[in-house]
Amino acid sequence: MIDEYVLEMKEIQKEFPGVKALQNIHFQLRKGEIHGLVGENGAGKSTLMKILAGIYTHDSGEIQFLGNLQKVLTPKIVEKLGIHFIHQERHVVPYLTVAESLFLGIENKFASFNLLKRRTMEKEAEKVLFEKVGVNLSGKKLVGDLSVGEKQLLQICRALLQDPKVIVFDEPTAVLAKREADQLFNIIKELKNKGISIIYISHYFGEILDICNRITVLRNGINVKTTETKGLTIEDIVYLMTGRRIGNEIPTKARHIGDVLLNVKDFTQSQQFHDVNFQIRKGEIVGITGLMGSGYTDLGMSIYDNSRITNGFVEFEGKRLTKNNPENAVALGMGYIPEDRRNLGILQNMSVRENITLTSLKSVSKGGVIKRKLEREKVDSIIDKLGIRTPNQKTTINYLSGGNQQKAVLAKWLSSNASLYILNQPTAAVDVSTKAEIYNLITQVAKNGAGVLLITQDLQELVTLSDRILVMYRGKVVREFERDNATTDQIMVSMMGGSNDESSSSNN
Ligand SMILES: Nc1ncnc2c1ncn2[C@@H]1O[C@H](COP(=O)(O)OP(=O)(O)OP(=O)(O)O)[C@@H](O)[C@H]1O
Ligand SMILES: [Mg+2]
Repeated sequence: MIDEYVLEMKEIQKEFPGVKALQNIHFQLRKGEIHGLVGENGAGKSTLMKILAGIYTHDSGEIQFLGNLQKVLTPKIVEKLGIHFIHQERHVVPYLTVAESLFLGIENKFASFNLLKRRTMEKEAEKVLFEKVGVNLSGKKLVGDLSVGEKQLLQICRALLQDPKVIVFDEPTAVLAKREADQLFNIIKELKNKGISIIYISHYFGEILDICNRITVLRNGINVKTTETKGLTIEDIVYLMTGRRIGNEIPTKARHIGDVLLNVKDFTQSQQFHDVNFQIRKGEIVGITGLMGSGYTDLGMSIYDNSRITNGFVEFEGKRLTKNNPENAVALGMGYIPEDRRNLGILQNMSVRENITLTSLKSVSKGGVIKRKLEREKVDSIIDKLGIRTPNQKTTINYLSGGNQQKAVLAKWLSSNASLYILNQPTAAVDVSTKAEIYNLITQVAKNGAGVLLITQDLQELVTLSDRILVMYRGKVVREFERDNATTDQIMVSMMGGSNDESSSSNN
């Protein structure tokens, strides 16, 4: 029974201008298995899944679903077949409510209520969301106001309402905290037990080994191996994926910590956080974390744009910032890399080169004229350093794979000579070799005297890079760790509101 394939993709080829994205790919999915799909940024994972989703058409090859040849796939047909996607780019309509986006288009499955009965629908949404994915969300809330993780749970829940046969997760945990990720794994294991097949794309190989039965490894558009996970190690996966063994040379050298650069005082944004106080010094990396909804991501954004601040203030280089907005912030020397890079981080429809240089035009221009040669060279060196996979500098950034877009956004800021960097989940979605490279870059800017606010769910990353770590819980900073006495376990306890030390000041 287990050998029954729900899905077979055979000899799939796909070429984009200048890129052979997929070459002769064979991919078989068994009924009720969790199948990991891994590979470096740009290896072809999302492309293969977008072909399955009917978003791209393959140049050649064939796809069989439950033994039937599928000549034409469109998103509608695919959904009818029972194949659902939690995509890497989270296409959600921001002005719909939670209830609307959960039920819209599948209302007929809920004959028990009338869509026009708004309150009934909202109540039902709240109930279903709690039952299926264990999340408490108001049905009235606008999708645009949800965190990335909440949007994702919403999409999962929507798939679950439609009798799925296959669910594809494209990097579901990239921006989830451990607790939310564990919750997701429980959901995924339940799905598997019901006979649903799961395709799971991730750069977190520990998770892959924990939950997947088999993996398929892609390298440069080629399937290098499909194998059982039993007996595999993380090093084995990295080797299959890159063809090399990667050491983890993470930089931890001591840096010179200078004067106070940023002073955050009684900072309050009514719904998100209150009475937050901390400082960042020149050359210092301050990490901050918390659970989804604890306010720690809003805090980073509000330093950059304080229009929603209700109390308290920020001083930057000794000057109090009354009205700070993104434009002003950039002029002052702040760089901000948002969590939702798709909407806020990249300049859509512009080239890789423009995306990288726009924040640092000054350094490549003279008397207002951009020096093209200098610009080209600078961009080339960045592309090379971070291994950004792109046909050339003029390629539109939207055509890059998710991880490569992320690299370009980072490159843009980290080459901008800002004096303060606010980095929100800087390595979500990047592969292992790039992660080390980004850690080096972050350490390097701090070494050169910049301050860094590192906002991340990745506790290992937090401990690796930070000089000090702040933990938020329900809108408050409840704990501060110095670099030498922080462990991921202790941080986790604080994130959950637990105090494992009398110096903790939490009382809610
Ligand atoms: N619409 C497109 N137009 C042109 N090139 C594209 C397009 N979509 C993907 N590509 C290219 O195809 C290759 C494979 O990209 P894909 O998005 O499948 O990678 P991935 O394995 O999902 O990587 P990541 O881990 O970064 O998400 C990349 O070189 C990418 O630049
Ligand atoms: Mg991808």
